[in-house]
Amino acid sequence: MSQQDYIKDIARFGLENDREKLLATLNEFIDHAKSTKKINFALQLQSILKDAVRKQETSGMLKVGSPSHYQQLTDRETDELILEKLTSDYSLENLVCPPEVKDKLLNFLNEHSHAELLNRHNLPLSNKLLLHGPSGCGKTLASYVIAGELKKLMIVVNLGAIVSAKLGETSKNLAKLFRKAAQEDCIIFIDEFDSLGKVRDYSQDHGEMKRVVNTILQLFDYLPQSSMVIAATNQKNMLDEALLRRFDVSIAFELPTKEEIYQLIDLTLKQSEFSFDKKTIANNIIKEAEGLSYYSIQKTLINAMKRSLFGTNNSRALKPKIDTSIWKQLVAEEKEALTV
Ligand SMILES: Nc1ncnc2c1ncn2[C@@H]1O[C@H](COP(=O)(O)OP(=O)(O)O)[C@@H](O)[C@H]1O
Ligand SMILES: [Mg+2]
Repeated sequence: MSQQDYIKDIARFGLENDREKLLATLNEFIDHAKSTKKINFALQLQSILKDAVRKQETSGMLKVGSPSHYQQLTDRETDELILEKLTSDYSLENLVCPPEVKDKLLNFLNEHSHAELLNRHNLPLSNKLLLHGPSGCGKTLASYVIAGELKKLMIVVNLGAIVSAKLGETSKNLAKLFRKAAQEDCIIFIDEFDSLGKVRDYSQDHGEMKRVVNTILQLFDYLPQSSMVIAATNQKNMLDEALLRRFDVSIAFELPTKEEIYQLIDLTLKQSEFSFDKKTIANNIIKEAEGLSYYSIQKTLINAMKRSLFGTNNSRALKPKIDTSIWKQLVAEEKEALTV
């Protein structure tokens, strides 16, 4: 059956309220999407279907205290703790990094694509990953790359909602979230992990923070092999030692060197028809850009592209030129703003 045939059937069964046939067709359509390599689409559809089925099972007259009542409660509770649920199309090619970082990522990904082999030999799978380093150097991007490469759904944790002023509530929220992730077989991404794991700096309520750290340690210890946690921080030194040791893999994301800045620029220009008006000046600016993050450099370049486009003759050109004097100015401003 073609994609259009599936959609026609889905529309028909949906409008006729034929739930049984609708679900069967949706499941076939998901398989079809997988077989035609539309994996992200398939994952999203699957997640919508799972959620809807669960809600349906728990709607109507509810018996308080029944398993379905419990399920509905936990669903509602975890919804608030999740910032977003996403799939990703990013791959390793989207990330510029030194060879050591790429190696570490590749090894990590390899373990997951060979999970069955490891399992057969009773070898544990690395599933707790820490990404650390200054902001704007690709930690969040790397988490998207992992989700994209492994074709897994990723839950982005809403730390604002998890960290609660109420005593003991933060730990409970974390436990709920990990349970949910285990059910759905997906990646948990915790950004700004230091705000959970730091103890030394926490003067107000040392006891509560200790409790949170202990909860995380336990959740990590009992994390099922099919789940994965990725934590990111730009303050690794604030993390509790015991917590740091629990990660299977820890990857440092540093500011780009000249070589990496070149790669970042190539990657950014690859998606467009732009090129530099003066190559040697561009090379000089790249030297000056050292000390800035990937994010900052990419931002100045994209802004320079936009402004150059508005300049003379460029707006109609098929292969517009980047005015290097504009870019130079933007890089200087960025450095000044950040006092690099
Ligand atoms: N290593 C990198 N390779 C390619 N692009 C990057 C890299 N680091 C940052 N960027 C660009 O900057 C944006 C923000 O980076 P992000 O991953 O959010 O940084 P971090 O999480 O470390 O603060 C990315 O979406 C990407 O466009
Ligand atoms: Mg980030």
